[in-house]
Amino acid sequence: MTKFMRFAACLGFIVPFVSAQMAFANDKISEAEGMIERAAELRAEADALAEKAAALIEAAEAEAAAAKEESETAEAATEDSASEAALEGAEGDNIAAAYEEGGKYFTADDVPTFNVAANGEVDWNTFSGFRRYHSECHVCHGPDGEGSTYAPALKKSALDMDYYDFVDVVVNGRKVVGSSANSVMPSFGENKNVMCYLDDIYVYLKARGTEDVARGRPGKKAKKSAEYKEQENACMEG
Ligand code: HEC
Repeated sequence: MTKFMRFAACLGFIVPFVSAQMAFANDKISEAEGMIERAAELRAEADALAEKAAALIEAAEAEAAAAKEESETAEAATEDSASEAALEGAEGDNIAAAYEEGGKYFTADDVPTFNVAANGEVDWNTFSGFRRYHSECHVCHGPDGEGSTYAPALKKSALDMDYYDFVDVVVNGRKVVGSSANSVMPSFGENKNVMCYLDDIYVYLKARGTEDVARGRPGKKAKKSAEYKEQENACMEG
C-alpha cells in the first residue's frame, strides 16, 4: 500500500463518519431551533396570560375599592341618621316646646307646638285651634280629632305627619288615586277661616294626640296676645 492509498482508505472511512456527524448535528440544530420557536410561543402565551391576570387583578381591586367606598358611605349615612336621631331625642321628638314668641310656642326645629301650663292653662293657639277645628274639620274628621268612618283621626296624623306635610294636605287637599269619589280631603288654600288658623288647628291636634289636652273644650286658656291679634287681623284682611 502506498501512502496515498492508505490516505484514501482512511478518507473513505472518515468522510462518511464526518458527514454522518454533520447530519446528526444538523438534526440537533433544527431540533433546537424548533425548541426555541416553541419557547417563544410559550413565552408569548405566558405574556398574554400574565396580561389577562393583571387585568383581572385590576378589575378585582377596582371592585373592592368601590365596595369599600360604598360601605363607607353607608356607614357614614348610618352615623348621620344616628346622630340625627340622637339630636331629635335630645331636642324632644317634635313636640316639646323649646321657646315662645308672642304667646305662640315652637319646638327647637321652629315647628309650632302647644303648651299646657302647670295649672292646666292651654296657650291661646291651642284654644283657638279647638274652636277652628270644630267649625271647619270635625264634620268629616270627627269631634276632638278622634276620626270618623269617613276621614282619619287627625290627632294621630298631627303626631305622625311632618308639620309641612300636614300643612300641604290642608292647603292643597288630597285624593288617593283609586279611592271612591267620596273620600276626598278638600283643599282649604283659599279659605281664610282655615289658613289664618292653620297652626292653631295643628297644635290643638298635636295636644289631642299626646292627650295633654282632654276631649271637649279646654277649661283654662291663656289670653290672646297683642302679637296674635295683629297677625290675625293682617291675615284676615290681607
Ligand atoms: C269634606 C270632608 C273633610 C273636611 C271638611 C276636612 N277633611 Fe281632611 N280629610 C278628609 C278625608 C276623606 C281625608 C283622607 C283623604 C285620603 O284618602 O287621603 C282627609 C285627610 C286629611 C289629612 C291627612 C291625614 C293623614 O293622616 O294622612 C289631613 C292633615 C287633613 N285631612 C286635615 C284636615 C283639616 C285640618 C281640616 C279642617 C280645616 C280638614 N281636614 C277638613 C276629609 C275632610
